[in-house]
Amino acid sequence: DRVLVLNGPNLDRLGTRQPEIYGTMSLADIERMLAEHHPDVTLDVRQTNDEATLIGWMHEAVDERMPVILNPAAFTHYSYALRDAAALVTEAGLPLIEVHLSNPHARETFRHTSVISGVATGVIAGFGQHSYLLALDQVRRQA
Ligand code: DQA
Repeated sequence: DRVLVLNGPNLDRLGTRQPEIYGTMSLADIERMLAEHHPDVTLDVRQTNDEATLIGWMHEAVDERMPVILNPAAFTHYSYALRDAAALVTEAGLPLIEVHLSNPHARETFRHTSVISGVATGVIAGFGQHSYLLALDQVRRQA
């Protein structure tokens, strides 16, 4: 069973980017942690700084019927195009879990809005790398 773990802009810098907020684990470290906890899952972890690429991956999720764990990063707060793509996933009956390492509600005002949450299956935020693990636990529970 394949699960897509999609990551938006600047998450390629995880590990060194504002570690006091995002922790010291890189995306590769997070992938290893997920694989250790769920050795039965085929993980497909991807990152892009490009909105169009991220939208294309969501279409792929629909076509290949793959559950999605999505950290939309800054796109969370303003990308209606990504929101529409996320809606395609959940309307297809596939789980789409929005994750954030930090708790955006405890940060700047512009981070308090998510245009994605309204079409997501659920949201997990504020638990660092474990936000991803909790999301994967839930995907497996639903599978
Ligand atoms: C983030 C929160 C966003 O506000 C921010 O733009 C990110 C990361 C998080 O995982 O906490 O890039 O999605």
